[in-house]
Amino acid sequence: MLPPPSSGYEFTGPDHERHDIYPAISVKKTPSLRQEGKVILITGAGRGIGRAIALEYALAGISGIIIVARSSDQLSEVESSIKAINSSIKVLKTSLDVRSNDAVTNLAKTIEADFGRLDVLINNAGVTDEWKSLPETDAVEWWNTIEVNTKAPYLFLRSLLPLLASTARRFGTMSDVINMSSIGANFATPGASAYCMSKLALDMLTEFVVMEFGEDVVCVSAHPGGVPTALASAVSALDGLLVDTPELCGGWCVWMTAGARKWLSGRYVSATWDVDRLESMKEDILKGDKLKKRLVI
Ligand SMILES: NC(=O)c1ccc[n+]([C@@H]2O[C@H](COP(=O)([O-])OP(=O)(O)OC[C@H]3O[C@@H](n4cnc5c(N)ncnc54)[C@H](OP(=O)(O)O)[C@@H]3O)[C@@H](O)[C@H]2O)c1
Repeated sequence: MLPPPSSGYEFTGPDHERHDIYPAISVKKTPSLRQEGKVILITGAGRGIGRAIALEYALAGISGIIIVARSSDQLSEVESSIKAINSSIKVLKTSLDVRSNDAVTNLAKTIEADFGRLDVLINNAGVTDEWKSLPETDAVEWWNTIEVNTKAPYLFLRSLLPLLASTARRFGTMSDVINMSSIGANFATPGASAYCMSKLALDMLTEFVVMEFGEDVVCVSAHPGGVPTALASAVSALDGLLVDTPELCGGWCVWMTAGARKWLSGRYVSATWDVDRLESMKEDILKGDKLKKRLVI
Protein backbone atom coordinates (compact mmCIF):
# COMPACT_ATOMS: atom_id res chain seq x y z
CA MET A 1 0.00 0.00 0.00
CA LEU A 2 1.38 3.42 -1.00
CA PRO A 3 1.87 6.03 1.77
CA PRO A 4 -0.88 8.69 2.03
CA PRO A 5 -0.43 12.01 0.17
CA SER A 6 0.13 13.83 3.50
CA SER A 7 3.33 11.80 3.90
CA GLY A 8 4.92 13.95 1.18
CA TYR A 9 5.46 10.84 -0.92
CA GLU A 10 4.84 12.75 -4.16
CA PHE A 11 5.74 16.25 -2.95
CA THR A 12 7.71 17.13 -6.09
CA GLY A 13 5.09 15.50 -8.34
CA PRO A 14 4.92 12.02 -9.85
CA ASP A 15 7.06 13.06 -12.83
CA HIS A 16 9.89 14.20 -10.57
CA GLU A 17 10.54 11.10 -8.48
CA ARG A 18 13.93 9.45 -8.50
CA HIS A 19 14.80 5.85 -7.68
CA ASP A 20 18.50 5.66 -8.53
CA ILE A 21 21.47 8.00 -8.60
CA TYR A 22 21.30 10.54 -11.46
CA PRO A 23 23.71 13.15 -12.88
CA ALA A 24 22.66 16.11 -10.68
CA ILE A 25 23.60 14.20 -7.50
CA SER A 26 26.45 12.10 -8.86
CA VAL A 27 29.88 13.56 -8.14
CA LYS A 28 31.25 11.51 -11.06
CA LYS A 29 28.94 13.45 -13.41
CA THR A 30 28.85 16.77 -11.51
CA PRO A 31 32.36 17.68 -10.31
CA SER A 32 31.06 20.80 -8.50
CA LEU A 33 29.77 18.40 -5.83
CA ARG A 34 33.37 17.61 -4.79
CA GLN A 35 34.15 18.48 -1.17
CA GLU A 36 37.93 18.66 -0.98
CA GLY A 37 39.43 18.24 2.47
CA LYS A 38 36.23 17.58 4.39
CA VAL A 39 35.97 15.03 7.20
CA ILE A 40 32.73 12.99 7.31
CA LEU A 41 31.26 10.73 10.03
CA ILE A 42 28.64 8.13 9.09
CA THR A 43 26.96 5.85 11.62
CA GLY A 44 25.58 2.54 10.41
CA ALA A 45 28.16 2.57 7.62
CA GLY A 46 28.79 -1.20 7.54
CA ARG A 47 26.07 -2.08 5.04
CA GLY A 48 22.98 -0.85 3.23
CA ILE A 49 22.41 2.89 2.90
CA GLY A 50 25.31 3.93 5.17
CA ARG A 51 27.77 1.90 3.08
CA ALA A 52 26.53 3.54 -0.13
CA ILE A 53 26.84 7.01 1.44
CA ALA A 54 30.46 6.27 2.45
CA LEU A 55 31.40 5.09 -1.05
CA GLU A 56 29.83 8.12 -2.71
CA TYR A 57 31.80 10.47 -0.42
CA ALA A 58 34.96 8.52 -1.27
CA LEU A 59 34.52 9.85 -4.82
CA ALA A 60 34.14 13.44 -3.61
CA GLY A 61 37.72 14.41 -2.71
CA ILE A 62 37.23 14.27 1.07
CA SER A 63 40.31 13.90 3.27
CA GLY A 64 38.89 11.78 6.10
CA ILE A 65 35.98 9.53 6.99
CA ILE A 66 34.88 7.92 10.24
CA ILE A 67 32.72 4.83 9.72
CA VAL A 68 30.76 3.47 12.68
CA ALA A 69 28.79 0.24 13.29
CA ARG A 70 29.08 -2.82 15.54
CA SER A 71 29.99 -5.40 12.85
CA SER A 72 33.73 -5.02 12.45
CA ASP A 73 33.91 -7.35 9.41
CA GLN A 74 31.39 -5.19 7.54
CA LEU A 75 33.33 -2.03 8.39
CA SER A 76 36.53 -3.67 7.11
CA GLU A 77 34.87 -4.37 3.77
CA VAL A 78 33.69 -0.75 3.52
CA GLU A 79 37.16 0.51 4.45
CA SER A 80 38.71 -1.60 1.66
CA SER A 81 36.12 -0.31 -0.82
CA ILE A 82 36.82 3.31 0.18
CA LYS A 83 40.56 2.77 -0.20
CA ALA A 84 40.03 1.15 -3.62
CA ILE A 85 38.32 4.38 -4.75
CA ASN A 86 40.81 6.78 -3.15
CA SER A 87 43.74 5.38 -1.16
CA SER A 88 44.67 8.81 0.26
CA ILE A 89 41.50 9.12 2.36
CA LYS A 90 42.20 8.70 6.09
CA VAL A 91 39.71 6.11 7.36
CA LEU A 92 38.85 5.61 11.03
CA LYS A 93 36.90 2.38 11.39
CA THR A 94 35.10 2.35 14.75
CA SER A 95 33.23 -0.67 15.99
CA LEU A 96 30.92 0.59 18.72
CA ASP A 97 27.34 0.51 19.90
CA VAL A 98 25.75 3.87 19.05
CA ARG A 99 23.59 3.62 22.19
CA SER A 100 26.65 3.96 24.46
CA ASN A 101 27.28 7.46 25.79
CA ASP A 102 30.83 6.54 26.89
CA ALA A 103 31.74 5.09 23.50
CA VAL A 104 30.37 8.11 21.63
CA THR A 105 32.07 10.58 23.99
CA ASN A 106 35.41 8.80 23.54
CA LEU A 107 35.00 8.73 19.77
CA ALA A 108 34.40 12.50 19.73
CA LYS A 109 37.67 13.03 21.62
CA THR A 110 39.53 10.78 19.15
CA ILE A 111 38.12 12.67 16.16
CA GLU A 112 39.17 16.02 17.61
CA ALA A 113 42.69 14.68 18.34
CA ASP A 114 43.22 12.74 15.08
CA PHE A 115 41.35 14.83 12.50
CA GLY A 116 40.98 18.25 14.18
CA ARG A 117 37.77 18.94 12.29
CA LEU A 118 34.37 17.48 11.42
CA ASP A 119 32.41 18.86 8.47
CA VAL A 120 29.55 16.37 8.12
CA LEU A 121 27.76 14.10 10.61
CA ILE A 122 25.32 11.56 9.19
CA ASN A 123 23.23 9.90 11.89
CA ASN A 124 22.24 6.92 9.78
CA ALA A 125 22.38 3.84 12.06
CA GLY A 126 18.89 2.50 12.56
CA VAL A 127 16.80 -0.54 13.45
CA THR A 128 13.20 -1.56 13.61
CA ASP A 129 11.57 -4.03 15.94
CA GLU A 130 9.01 -6.43 14.47
CA TRP A 131 5.86 -4.58 13.39
CA LYS A 132 3.06 -5.69 15.75
CA SER A 133 0.08 -4.10 17.49
CA LEU A 134 0.96 -2.53 20.86
CA PRO A 135 -0.03 -5.42 23.20
CA GLU A 136 1.95 -7.88 21.07
CA THR A 137 5.20 -5.90 21.00
CA ASP A 138 8.23 -6.97 23.01
CA ALA A 139 8.93 -4.14 25.48
CA VAL A 140 12.72 -4.52 25.29
CA GLU A 141 12.79 -4.58 21.48
CA TRP A 142 10.35 -1.66 21.30
CA TRP A 143 12.54 0.51 23.51
CA ASN A 144 15.69 -0.56 21.66
CA THR A 145 14.24 0.97 18.49
CA ILE A 146 13.85 4.30 20.29
CA GLU A 147 17.39 4.02 21.69
CA VAL A 148 19.09 3.35 18.35
CA ASN A 149 16.96 5.69 16.22
CA THR A 150 16.54 8.62 18.63
CA LYS A 151 18.89 8.41 21.62
CA ALA A 152 21.96 7.57 19.51
CA PRO A 153 21.62 10.61 17.18
CA TYR A 154 21.21 12.74 20.32
CA LEU A 155 24.45 11.29 21.76
CA PHE A 156 26.38 12.03 18.55
CA LEU A 157 24.94 15.55 18.38
CA ARG A 158 25.65 16.19 22.05
CA SER A 159 29.30 15.18 21.64
CA LEU A 160 30.03 16.55 18.18
CA LEU A 161 28.04 19.77 17.64
CA PRO A 162 30.82 21.90 19.19
CA LEU A 163 33.39 20.45 16.77
CA LEU A 164 31.01 20.80 13.81
CA ALA A 165 30.42 24.45 14.72
CA SER A 166 34.10 25.26 15.31
CA THR A 167 35.00 23.61 11.97
CA ALA A 168 32.46 25.82 10.20
CA ARG A 169 33.81 28.97 11.85
CA ARG A 170 37.43 28.01 11.18
CA PHE A 171 36.85 27.49 7.45
CA GLY A 172 34.18 30.18 6.99
CA THR A 173 31.61 27.62 5.81
CA MET A 174 28.62 25.72 7.20
CA SER A 175 28.93 22.21 8.60
CA ASP A 176 26.16 19.67 7.95
CA VAL A 177 24.12 17.15 9.89
CA ILE A 178 21.86 14.65 8.14
CA ASN A 179 19.55 12.79 10.50
CA MET A 180 18.36 9.69 8.65
CA SER A 181 14.65 9.81 9.35
CA SER A 182 11.97 8.02 7.36
CA ILE A 183 8.72 8.69 5.59
CA GLY A 184 7.40 6.69 8.56
CA ALA A 185 7.81 9.85 10.66
CA ASN A 186 4.97 11.44 8.70
CA PHE A 187 2.10 9.02 9.35
CA ALA A 188 1.19 6.20 11.73
CA THR A 189 1.83 2.88 10.01
CA PRO A 190 -0.02 -0.09 11.58
CA GLY A 191 2.39 -2.03 13.82
CA ALA A 192 5.30 0.38 13.51
CA SER A 193 4.70 2.43 16.69
CA ALA A 194 8.31 2.43 17.92
CA TYR A 195 9.81 3.03 14.47
CA CYS A 196 7.45 5.88 13.49
CA MET A 197 7.73 7.53 16.93
CA SER A 198 11.53 7.27 16.94
CA LYS A 199 11.79 9.00 13.56
CA LEU A 200 9.19 11.65 14.47
CA ALA A 201 11.24 12.49 17.57
CA LEU A 202 14.36 12.63 15.40
CA ASP A 203 12.67 15.21 13.16
CA MET A 204 12.07 17.36 16.25
CA LEU A 205 15.71 16.94 17.24
CA THR A 206 16.64 18.32 13.81
CA GLU A 207 14.72 21.50 14.60
CA PHE A 208 16.60 21.87 17.89
CA VAL A 209 19.96 21.63 16.11
CA VAL A 210 18.91 24.49 13.84
CA MET A 211 17.53 26.51 16.74
CA GLU A 212 20.75 26.20 18.75
CA PHE A 213 23.46 25.89 16.06
CA GLY A 214 21.79 27.26 12.92
CA GLU A 215 24.47 29.93 12.40
CA ASP A 216 27.12 27.28 11.78
CA VAL A 217 25.33 24.00 11.08
CA VAL A 218 22.80 23.02 8.40
CA CYS A 219 20.67 20.13 9.68
CA VAL A 220 17.97 18.18 7.84
CA SER A 221 15.93 15.03 8.41
CA ALA A 222 16.13 12.78 5.38
CA HIS A 223 14.09 9.94 3.95
CA PRO A 224 16.48 7.71 1.97
CA GLY A 225 13.79 6.09 -0.18
CA GLY A 226 12.46 2.56 0.09
CA VAL A 227 15.64 0.51 -0.13
CA PRO A 228 15.91 -3.29 0.00
CA THR A 229 18.37 -3.49 2.90
CA ALA A 230 18.62 -5.90 5.84
CA LEU A 231 16.40 -3.59 7.90
CA ALA A 232 13.65 -2.98 5.35
CA SER A 233 13.59 -6.40 3.69
CA ALA A 234 12.70 -7.98 7.05
CA VAL A 235 9.38 -6.05 7.15
CA SER A 236 6.77 -7.91 5.08
CA ALA A 237 4.48 -4.82 5.05
CA LEU A 238 7.10 -3.14 2.85
CA ASP A 239 6.98 -5.83 0.14
CA GLY A 240 6.74 -4.13 -3.26
CA LEU A 241 7.71 -0.69 -1.87
CA LEU A 242 11.49 -1.12 -1.78
CA VAL A 243 12.13 0.31 -5.24
CA ASP A 244 15.08 2.64 -4.57
CA THR A 245 18.81 1.93 -4.70
CA PRO A 246 21.14 2.74 -1.77
CA GLU A 247 23.21 4.80 -4.22
CA LEU A 248 20.27 7.25 -4.58
CA CYS A 249 20.67 8.31 -0.95
CA GLY A 250 24.49 8.13 -1.22
CA GLY A 251 24.47 10.68 -4.03
CA TRP A 252 21.75 12.74 -2.39
CA CYS A 253 23.81 13.15 0.82
CA VAL A 254 26.80 14.37 -1.21
CA TRP A 255 24.51 16.84 -3.02
CA MET A 256 22.98 17.98 0.27
CA THR A 257 26.34 18.85 1.85
CA ALA A 258 27.98 20.36 -1.24
CA GLY A 259 26.93 23.86 -0.14
CA ALA A 260 24.20 26.51 -0.52
CA ARG A 261 21.49 24.31 1.00
CA LYS A 262 20.93 26.37 4.17
CA TRP A 263 17.40 27.11 3.00
CA LEU A 264 16.52 23.45 3.64
CA SER A 265 17.81 23.52 7.22
CA GLY A 266 15.34 22.24 9.84
CA ARG A 267 13.20 20.49 7.23
CA TYR A 268 12.30 16.95 6.22
CA VAL A 269 13.59 16.13 2.74
CA SER A 270 13.27 12.94 0.71
CA ALA A 271 16.14 11.64 -1.42
CA THR A 272 13.49 10.50 -3.91
CA TRP A 273 12.57 14.11 -4.76
CA ASP A 274 14.41 15.35 -7.85
CA VAL A 275 16.78 18.01 -6.55
CA ASP A 276 16.38 20.42 -9.50
CA ARG A 277 12.62 20.27 -9.09
CA LEU A 278 13.02 20.81 -5.32
CA GLU A 279 15.22 23.88 -5.92
CA SER A 280 12.55 25.24 -8.30
CA MET A 281 10.02 24.97 -5.43
CA LYS A 282 12.26 26.88 -2.97
CA GLU A 283 10.23 30.11 -2.85
CA ASP A 284 6.97 28.26 -2.24
CA ILE A 285 8.55 26.06 0.45
CA LEU A 286 10.04 29.04 2.31
CA LYS A 287 6.89 31.14 1.99
CA GLY A 288 4.70 28.33 3.37
CA ASP A 289 7.36 27.24 5.90
CA LYS A 290 6.78 23.77 4.48
CA LEU A 291 8.36 20.37 5.23
CA LYS A 292 8.17 20.80 9.01
CA LYS A 293 5.96 19.08 11.58
CA ARG A 294 3.18 21.45 12.68
CA LEU A 295 -0.37 21.17 14.03
CA VAL A 296 -3.02 21.75 11.38
CA ILE A 297 -5.27 24.38 13.00
N1 LIG B 1 15.89 0.81 3.92
C1 LIG B 1 14.85 1.62 3.84
O1 LIG B 1 13.94 1.46 3.01
C2 LIG B 1 14.76 2.79 4.80
C3 LIG B 1 13.63 3.63 4.69
C4 LIG B 1 13.54 4.72 5.55
C5 LIG B 1 14.55 4.97 6.46
N2 LIG B 1 15.63 4.13 6.55
C6 LIG B 1 16.68 4.45 7.52
O2 LIG B 1 17.95 4.37 6.90
C7 LIG B 1 18.94 4.06 7.89
C8 LIG B 1 19.85 2.95 7.38
O3 LIG B 1 19.10 1.76 7.32
P1 LIG B 1 19.36 0.56 6.29
O4 LIG B 1 18.08 0.32 5.62
O5 LIG B 1 20.60 0.83 5.49
O6 LIG B 1 19.58 -0.65 7.33
P2 LIG B 1 20.73 -1.76 7.47
O7 LIG B 1 21.21 -2.20 6.14
O8 LIG B 1 20.18 -2.78 8.40
O9 LIG B 1 21.92 -0.94 8.16
C9 LIG B 1 21.80 -0.45 9.48
C10 LIG B 1 23.17 -0.02 9.96
O10 LIG B 1 23.01 0.48 11.31
C11 LIG B 1 23.95 -0.16 12.16
N3 LIG B 1 23.45 -0.30 13.52
C12 LIG B 1 22.26 -0.80 13.95
N4 LIG B 1 22.21 -0.83 15.29
C13 LIG B 1 23.40 -0.34 15.74
C14 LIG B 1 23.96 -0.13 17.02
N5 LIG B 1 23.26 -0.42 18.15
N6 LIG B 1 25.20 0.39 17.11
C15 LIG B 1 25.90 0.68 15.99
N7 LIG B 1 25.42 0.54 14.74
C16 LIG B 1 24.18 0.01 14.62
C17 LIG B 1 24.13 -1.56 11.52
O11 LIG B 1 25.37 -2.13 11.90
P3 LIG B 1 25.53 -3.26 13.03
O12 LIG B 1 24.27 -4.07 13.08
O13 LIG B 1 26.74 -4.00 12.60
O14 LIG B 1 25.77 -2.50 14.30
C18 LIG B 1 24.16 -1.18 10.03
O15 LIG B 1 25.45 -0.76 9.64
C19 LIG B 1 18.17 3.72 9.18
O16 LIG B 1 18.17 4.84 10.04
C20 LIG B 1 16.76 3.44 8.67
O17 LIG B 1 15.78 3.66 9.66
C21 LIG B 1 15.75 3.05 5.74
